[in-house]
Amino acid sequence: MNEQQRKETTKIKQSNPGDKKSLKEKTSEDFAKFFETTYVAPSLKDAKKRGKEEIKVHRDFEIPEDMIGVGKDKKFYIRTYGCQMNEHDTEVMAGIFMQLGFEPTTTTDDADVILLNTCAIRENAENKVFGEIGHLKPLKQKNPDVLLGVCGCMSQEESVVNRINQKHPFVDMIFGTHNIHRLPQIIREAMFSKERVVEVWSKEGDVIENLPKVRQGNIKAWVNIMYGCDKFCTYCIVPYTRGKERSRRPEDIIQEVRQLAAQGYQEITLLGQNVNAYGKDFEDMKYGLGELMDEIRKIDIPRIRFTTSHPRDFDDRLIEVLAKGGNLVDHIHLPVQSGSSEILKLMARKYSRESYLELVRKIKEAIPNVTLTTDIIVGFPNETDEQFEETLSLVREVGFESAYTFIYSPRDGTPAAKMQDNIPMRVKKERLQRLNQLVNEQAAETMKNYIGQEVTVLVEGESKNNSEVLAGYTEKSKLVNFKGPKSAIGKIVKVKINKAKTWSLDGEMIEEVAEVN
Ligand code: SAH
Ligand code: SF4
Ligand code: F3S
Repeated sequence: MNEQQRKETTKIKQSNPGDKKSLKEKTSEDFAKFFETTYVAPSLKDAKKRGKEEIKVHRDFEIPEDMIGVGKDKKFYIRTYGCQMNEHDTEVMAGIFMQLGFEPTTTTDDADVILLNTCAIRENAENKVFGEIGHLKPLKQKNPDVLLGVCGCMSQEESVVNRINQKHPFVDMIFGTHNIHRLPQIIREAMFSKERVVEVWSKEGDVIENLPKVRQGNIKAWVNIMYGCDKFCTYCIVPYTRGKERSRRPEDIIQEVRQLAAQGYQEITLLGQNVNAYGKDFEDMKYGLGELMDEIRKIDIPRIRFTTSHPRDFDDRLIEVLAKGGNLVDHIHLPVQSGSSEILKLMARKYSRESYLELVRKIKEAIPNVTLTTDIIVGFPNETDEQFEETLSLVREVGFESAYTFIYSPRDGTPAAKMQDNIPMRVKKERLQRLNQLVNEQAAETMKNYIGQEVTVLVEGESKNNSEVLAGYTEKSKLVNFKGPKSAIGKIVKVKINKAKTWSLDGEMIEEVAEVN
C-alpha cells in the first residue's frame, strides 16, 4: 500500500451525526461516515489514467498472524459471474479462505461468508447480480452474522457502490479487483468492527505473486500471464475495472506451468484480457507471447491454450510458434466484434475488416487445420443494415466454427456510452437472431464433417445430462459425449464419432492415448 492508499484506508469517523439528508439524498461518502468504516470508493475517472510508473511485482503476500485460524468451523461460498479471469480470481480467493481456516461449501444456506464475484461487461450481467443480492436479503435477515461481500468488476464502478449503499445496506463488504490480496484484512474489518467495509482501489495495478490458489479441478487449469487492458475499445468497461496491461515475469509463469504439469494437469489456458500484448510492458527485455509460448510448449503438458487474443497485437512470431503445433492447440479465439471497418473505427479496435482478414489468411496459411472462433457485438451505435451485412459476410468468409454474440450494451463511463444508443432493441434482436442462425449453421456444418472420424478427447467427467455417458473436449474445443469407463476421466482418449449435433458430437471410445506429444 502506498502513502495515499494508507491515508485513504484509514477510518473516516462519523463527522456529522446530526446529518439531515434523507436516505435517497445521501452520497456514498455520507454512508461511509455514517458507518464509521473503511471507505475507499471507486472512481472510473482515476481508473482510466495510464501513467509512466513502473509496474511493481509484490512477492510478500502472507496471512496476518492474527487472522490465522479465524475461519475455524466456518464456511465460505463464492458465486462467480463473468469471464475466466473472474473464475481464476475465485480460485485465488478460495485459496486465501482456506489459509484462513475456512472450509468451502456449495450452498449459501450454511455459509458464514458469501461472496459475489461480479461482472460488469453488460447491463444484463449486472442485473443478475443485483437480483442475487436481493435474494440473499432474507438469509441475511435470518442470520445477521453471515458476512455478505460483493467483489469483482462491478465493485470498481461508483454507480454500483452507490446503489448498494442506498438500496442494499445489508451488504457487509465491497472490494475491488485490485484488492483481492487484501481479503484477510477486509474480512477482519467486517468481522470484528461489524461495520460495512468498502475498499476499492482505482489504480493502474501491480502484479501480486505467491497468492494461494484452490483450483476448481485437477484436469484443466488457468494460468494468468497478464492483467488489465490498455486497448480502451470504446464500448468496453474492462480497462477501467482491471487496470493497465501488466505482465507476469516469464519465470513465474513457467514455474507455475511446470508445477501444474508435475501435478498431472492435462491442459492449461494462459489468461489475459489481451494476451497478445504480453511482455510489451517489460522495460528490460524484448519478450512477447511468441517467446513465452515457445518455452511453455516444451513443458510436458498435453494441451496449451490461450485466451483472449486481440487481433491488433497478433504478430508473425506468435503465428510461427503456433505453427509448431504439438501441445499448442490449433484453436484460436480471435474476437472480431464487427465486419465493418467503419464500425470497427467507432469501436476503436484499431484494425479494419481488411487487416483482420489478412491476419486470418496468414494464420490459415501457417496452420492449415486451424479452428477460429470469435466474439461479435451487434447494434453498436449507428450500425446500419449494410454494416451488419458486412459482419455476416465476414463470418462466412472466415468460416468461424462458433461465436459468442452480444447485443451492444452501453456502459457508463465509456466513450461509446456518450454516443446515442440509436439502434432500436427490436432491430438489435433481429440482427442477433440472424447472426446466431448463421453461426449455428456453420457450427452444424463443421460438426457433420466429424462423422466417421477419430478425435482425441480430454475426458472431464460424466455428461451433465446422463451419468452413464462421459464428456470431454477435443483440441478444437468440441464437446464429445461417449460411453466409456470412469477410469478414463482425467485422461486423453481416442473416440470415433458417429453422430453430430450443432454443439456436440457423440461417439465410441477406441483407446486411451498414452503419449500425446
Ligand atoms: N478482451 C477480450 C474481450 C473481453 S469481453 C477481447 O478484446 O477480445 C468479452 C466480449 O464481451 C467482447 O469480446 C465483446 O464482444 C463483448 N462486450 C464487451 N463490452 C460489451 C458491451 N458494452 N456490450 C456488448 N458486448 C460487449
Ligand atoms: Fe475490452 Fe477491448 Fe480490452 Fe477486450 S481489448 S478487454 S474488448 S477494451
Ligand atoms: Fe466481466 Fe470483468 Fe471479466 S467485466 S468479462 S468479469 S474482466
